[in-house]
Amino acid sequence: MQPADVTIVGFGPGQWSKLTLEVHDLLLQADRIYTRDPLSWEVLRELKARGKNVISLSSLYLLGLPVGELYDLMADVVARSALRYGPLVYALPGNPLVFEFATLLVRRRALALGLSCTIVEGMSCLEAMFVANNIDPGFGLQILNLVDFETKPRLIASVATLMFQVGAPRHVFHDQSEPDRCNLSWLRDRLIELDYPPEHKVFLLKPGEGGQQISVVGKVSRMERLKPYLNSMCTLYIPPNWIVT
Ligand SMILES: C[S@@+](CC[C@H](N)C(=O)[O-])C[C@H]1O[C@@H](n2cnc3c(N)ncnc32)[C@H](O)[C@@H]1O
Repeated sequence: MQPADVTIVGFGPGQWSKLTLEVHDLLLQADRIYTRDPLSWEVLRELKARGKNVISLSSLYLLGLPVGELYDLMADVVARSALRYGPLVYALPGNPLVFEFATLLVRRRALALGLSCTIVEGMSCLEAMFVANNIDPGFGLQILNLVDFETKPRLIASVATLMFQVGAPRHVFHDQSEPDRCNLSWLRDRLIELDYPPEHKVFLLKPGEGGQQISVVGKVSRMERLKPYLNSMCTLYIPPNWIVT
């Protein structure tokens, strides 16, 4: 593939072995690789070990800007760097268009500066979660994130659910009336209102140290007990309410 000025790639769930061949080649050919994430992902560490110039923008989070402003700034840094120093690769975890609002900001900023921009898919965490937890979306699946669910708490309880971003920080939520409330205890109350049986099992899913899938089981009525395992990379899998788990 002919590289664009800005090539946005998905590097998969984190392990080197889960890169697509296409993204592997683009990463190894790139002069400069930008990433929003810290360099802790195995893929990024492997690229550094192979002598690649990998630049993490993660310290920009320390500026404490509202998310929208922060992502505009990151998009500007990436696009201006391509304008000034030539083609680059912007590498994001998973698939760059799965829960990655910043991807379209980067593309928009690049195009506004007269640069070309391509997006190349990687394997998203969805595939890893499907395989590790025997989830077949063919039986029906609702995929949403907790931040949107908070503004419209509706679900079809008879259909399996993957609730992304269950570990999102409280300050990104619309309702600021209970700043210390744990996301999981708030979600527990909504699931009970939505008629999930209190003993219904739920699974907190996240990547482990090496990027492998981790799953911690809990129950709807005692979901807050999963709090010690909660971090910003967690998704809650809620099987359909009719299933005996
Ligand atoms: C900003 S999104 C990035 C998703 C990514 N673009 C992808 O395709 O995998 C981050 C959210 O994805 C979910 N996530 C990412 N990796 C995960 C994993 N290995 N297991 C469970 N959820 C994961 C979590 O809900 C996390 O809050």
